Amino acid sequence: MADDSVIQDSTPCLLHLLLLAELFVHSSSRPAGSPSLCGTFRAMVPQLERLMTLSETLHDLTDDDLLNFSVVGHGLSSLPNIQYDAGYFNSPKVNASLSQLYVYVQSFRLHVDWLKTAKENVSLSWSAEDVRTGLLQLSNLINTSLHQISEDVPQSPSPSLPAVSTTFEALQSSVEISQRLQAFCDWSKRVLRRLQRQSRCPKH
Ligand SMILES: *[C@@H]1O[C@H](CO)[C@@H](O)[C@H](O)[C@H]1NC(C)=O
Ligand SMILES: *[C@@H]1O[C@H](CO)[C@@H](O)[C@H](O)[C@H]1NC(C)=O
Ligand SMILES: *[C@@H]1O[C@H](CO)[C@@H](O)[C@H](O)[C@H]1NC(C)=O
Ligand SMILES: *[C@@H]1O[C@H](CO)[C@@H](O)[C@H](O)[C@H]1NC(C)=O
Repeated sequence: MADDSVIQDSTPCLLHLLLLAELFVHSSSRPAGSPSLCGTFRAMVPQLERLMTLSETLHDLTDDDLLNFSVVGHGLSSLPNIQYDAGYFNSPKVNASLSQLYVYVQSFRLHVDWLKTAKENVSLSWSAEDVRTGLLQLSNLINTSLHQISEDVPQSPSPSLPAVSTTFEALQSSVEISQRLQAFCDWSKRVLRRLQRQSRCPKH
């Protein structure tokens, strides 16, 4: 909770600086999309890259150990079912894509919180606090972008997640959430690039 309030206080300030920088750099270039929306998009890119790296801290297994966990079980059906089809990439609406991103991020936040409890329940160490922080910051940025296009923040479903009773289950869930989070970051970066083009954001 203490973390949350610090981030919520510092995010708007950082964003402000980014937006100012955006205005100065681009005041003389070709007609571009909304500088504030483009500024928010740009702030999301490094956040996604950080999350991509951090997602590995959800478990502390070596590559060899990972092989033991990657093929077992049917996994967590409540994790976001990301749409990879080409149709989605060809004509995403900015509002629909941002709403979708928001819902996915809330789902990952829920699963990571659940994983923290699950690991602690079976006495495994928890070393992924940065992932929770990163997801919260990303969620705040998407919230900001939704406000910038006057779109309501969507309601997120809250699936009930199972209780975990063995170390094996907890490790398996760590690996699964870690891998799905990486795939999500990769997907989100592609969606974001498309949104930047669609919104005629300046290139860098
Ligand atoms: C993975 O499997 C190998 C070989 O069966 C075993 O030596 C290793 O301890 C296992 N790792 C985990 C984390 O269970
Ligand atoms: C996106 O905006 C269009 C109108 O511009 C609206 O028809 C549509 O319902 C919106 N989609 C979402 C997911 O909010
Ligand atoms: C989204 O941001 C607005 C301010 O821009 C804030 O009032 C609201 O509480 C935020 N919502 C969430 C779910 O974070
Ligand atoms: C953790 O333990 C509590 C208390 O036994 C239990 O209610 C909860 O469901 C457990 N959570 C997970 C994710 O296993």
